[in-house]
Amino acid sequence: MKILLFGKGGQVGWELQRSLAPLGELVALDHDSAALCGNFADLAGLAATVRAVAPDVIVNAAAHTAVDKAESEPELARTLNALAPGVLADEAQKLGAWLVHYSTDYVFNGSGNTPWRESDATGPLSVYGQTKLEGEQAVARCARHLIFRTSWVFAARGGNFAKTMLRLARERESLSVIADQIGAPTGAELLADVTAHALRTVRGRPAEFSKFAGLYHLVAGGETSWHGFACHVLERAQAMGQTLKVGPDEVRAITTADYPTAARRPLNSRLDTTRLRETFDLHLPDWKIAVDRMLDEIL
Ligand SMILES: NC(=O)c1ccc[n+]([C@@H]2O[C@H](COP(=O)([O-])OP(=O)(O)OC[C@H]3O[C@@H](n4cnc5c(N)ncnc54)[C@H](OP(=O)(O)O)[C@@H]3O)[C@@H](O)[C@H]2O)c1
Repeated sequence: MKILLFGKGGQVGWELQRSLAPLGELVALDHDSAALCGNFADLAGLAATVRAVAPDVIVNAAAHTAVDKAESEPELARTLNALAPGVLADEAQKLGAWLVHYSTDYVFNGSGNTPWRESDATGPLSVYGQTKLEGEQAVARCARHLIFRTSWVFAARGGNFAKTMLRLARERESLSVIADQIGAPTGAELLADVTAHALRTVRGRPAEFSKFAGLYHLVAGGETSWHGFACHVLERAQAMGQTLKVGPDEVRAITTADYPTAARRPLNSRLDTTRLRETFDLHLPDWKIAVDRMLDEIL
């Protein structure tokens, strides 16, 4: 099996380099890769790369992920999040290849408090959410597609919310964190491992590809708010002997309205993972397990 991975240096891309390696020959690219074009702003270059590599599977971990910045550069966000995945879909379709793609809870408007299912109506509140939704629709032009919608991604490598909270709790006298957005922090390791598991499954049952192709919600088990996430990180850090100026009990809970940002974010980011768990026979561990593991690594 030949796998072409885009966005190899990102949180998810980095973990995919590990999890996909045992599946076959892996060609992994970033936007500045030299020999082959991995730049999502170069649509013709991307198509040429897919034709040159002729993979059995394309995995796309590249995206415009700067949610607030996307509000002021919607055309770039659309190119990276929708047009480029569309090129990959059309090229993959010509090859009969699988295309794996990642999307986001930000395709929803965040109303209510029940977990969103794949069949629920979307309603993005931001340029990022809108362009990621257009990306999903483009990727679905490839018959053999797997789209994993996830939320609140973190990893030991790269910057993320947990690391920012640790830094601020060491530096500042007080800390305020949003408590009315609810979701599931999801480790890049889990996304990468589930991707490899799904690819092994579809590889073993080629005649049943239409049973597996489609859109899945993939997040860790349990739920919390950004405030709950921050408190858990600080509690764990303190238990590991870290000195903090702001302890877990001192983090002030604020509302989304108290913290205006360029992009609007959904309040209800809960995703129902039943379809994924049943189709691929998976268990999705609680979010705290991977957060604790990441803290063990970085502290
Ligand atoms: N992060 C989250 O909380 C979150 C939540 C829900 C869904 N997702 C989705 O999960 C997927 C992976 O996200 P992530 O957290 O791993 O993001 P990330 O760490 O920001 O990585 C994004 C990757 O895209 C690459 N990239 C940026 N501009 C590019 C371009 N012009 N051409 C090619 N590559 C380019 C980046 O390369 P450079 O670093 O070299 O620029 C990086 O490797 C994305 O589809 C994202 O939308 C993420």
